Parts: sequence; structure tokens; C-alpha cells
Amino acid sequence: MTAPAVVLVGPMGVGKSTVGELLAQRLGTAYRDTDADVEAAAGKPIAEIFFDEGEPHFRALERGAVRTAVAEHGGVLALGGGAVLDEGTRALLADLPVVYLSMDVEEAVRRVGLGAARPLLAVNPRRQWRELMDARRHLYEEVARAVVATDDRTPEEVAQAVLDALELKDA
Ligand code: S3P
Repeated sequence: MTAPAVVLVGPMGVGKSTVGELLAQRLGTAYRDTDADVEAAAGKPIAEIFFDEGEPHFRALERGAVRTAVAEHGGVLALGGGAVLDEGTRALLADLPVVYLSMDVEEAVRRVGLGAARPLLAVNPRRQWRELMDARRHLYEEVARAVVATDDRTPEEVAQAVLDALELKDA
């Protein structure tokens, strides 16, 4: 079994995929993303899975996608923002190099805005953001080996901070 070199967790819009791709380049490894795995398995976008089958169904698909990816991916892995809600997933992450990418609410609203692709923030994004983070912040912190704040930092700076936090070097 190979374990991921880096696992990124954190809320939607924080830049997990942008930073994850950069990290993968710098480490000379592959990037993988459980949202994309779920979409590929379901054959449709996440917003449609939420709409057609509901969030619990999406969470079940996500749980399976995380398990598979953790077991077979040795590169950089980004998890969907809500993956840490699952207790089994949190247990699975316990010994992995997990980094929590964080941002404050103003940055979140700037970055995510009213993006329809993110069904959980479709209505009143600022309030929903606060509620999501009140429910999840401690879960991100629980699974993470390091926390990297992304506010006012470029993706390159965030990637560097992740490498520093995990004491990893470029390939
Ligand atoms: C979600 C985050 C999304 C996606 C889905 C639900 C969440 O992933 O999995 O819309 O519950 O926070 P990203 O964090 O990659 O946007």
C-alpha cells in the first residue's frame, strides 16, 4: 500500500486544487482530487449528485473515493471540503501528512462568491460559510499535522509553506 505524500484538507474555495497541482509539480508526483474521482464514478458533476440523489448519497460516494485514493495514490491528494465530517475518514487520515489550508470569511466570500458549482454556498454565502466553519474547523484541526493560512498569499507561497510545514523538498 502506498500512502499519499501530502493530503490537503480545508474548506471549498481555499485553493486545494491549485496548490495541490503546484505541490505535485514541485514534488515530481501526481495530483489527485476526490471530488473529481466522485464525479468520474457517478458520471456527473457534484452539484447534480446533490440535486438528484441528495447529500447523504454524495457523502457515501465521497467516503469510498477517499478510501480508494488513500490506499492507491502516492502523490498529492486533495479532499473535498466536507470529507472530514466522516469519522472513519478522520481515522484513516490519522497517520498521514495532512495539511489544513485555512482562510478567513472575507477571503472565502471573495474566492467562492455565489458560485453555483458549490451547492452548499448557493444561498447567503457569508452566513453559510460561518456555519460550515463552526461545524468543521475543529475537524480540520483534528486531522491536520500542520495548518497553513492562505489569506493574502499566492498559490506559490502557500505551496512553499506546505512544503516547509511538512519538511519536504522539491524533487
Ligand atoms: C463540499 C465541498 C466541495 C464538494 C461538495 C461539498 C463541502 O469540494 O466536495 O460541493 O461539503 O464542503 P471542494 O472543497 O473541493 O470545493
